[in-house]
Amino acid sequence: MKRHQYVENAWTTCLSWVEKEAAAQQGEEAARGVQVGRFVFLTTFNLLGNLMLSRDLLDPEAEDTGEFFGAVLKLMQWSGHANMSDFFPWLRRLDPQGLRRKMDRDLGKALEIASRFVKERVDEDKKFVSDNKEKEKNKKDFLDVLLEFQGNGKDEPSKISAKNINIFILEIFLAGSGTTSSTVEWAMTELLCNPESLNNGQS
Ligand code: HEM
Repeated sequence: MKRHQYVENAWTTCLSWVEKEAAAQQGEEAARGVQVGRFVFLTTFNLLGNLMLSRDLLDPEAEDTGEFFGAVLKLMQWSGHANMSDFFPWLRRLDPQGLRRKMDRDLGKALEIASRFVKERVDEDKKFVSDNKEKEKNKKDFLDVLLEFQGNGKDEPSKISAKNINIFILEIFLAGSGTTSSTVEWAMTELLCNPESLNNGQS
């Protein structure tokens, strides 16, 4: 499947999740409403997973929302907390809210999972070589590009180190998921508040 088709399908799937959730909430439960932002966030996460790693990382119906997703959510949570040590630097060593400890723990976990994704791909590539098969060129994703990178070794590295590849992967998830999903959620809210614009968009 071409990537732009995947993107279209991902948003159609997102709408079907929302419809399913709305249909499931009958009677009193309807008052709870549907957390559209949650589904948009899951979709954005899966979109990034496909662009970078060619895989869906999440299914909203799965009990376990995925350990990578869980770790990334925690990182966002800790980085969004006000840290007293930023206001009173002499508290830094004491880490009174335990934010640095929690950040270190969950960053380590997320990087460990990212390194597993990379290792799986490297093993898969080795298998292609040993089986004398060639990868389809149009199937190349962001991880392939990072792994194949060859720099001049002067003002850029000749290869990107394994550690930096893991950091790249994690950074794109952190930078691209919350920002995109909040923007979509905000745009949808604005449309709901402006029915005329919503009608224009739909027609
Ligand atoms: C509406 C969506 C987005 C908004 C509003 C947004 C906003 C921003 C802003 C303001 C910065 C600069 C931060 C700074 O320099 O302090 C930034 C950096 C960055 N963004 Fe986004 N972003 C969005 C989507 C994305 C997506 C989809 C990706 C990746 C797929 C991404 C990847 C990055 C990266 C890697 C950086 C760091 C660049 C650097 O090294 O300086 N962003 N973004």
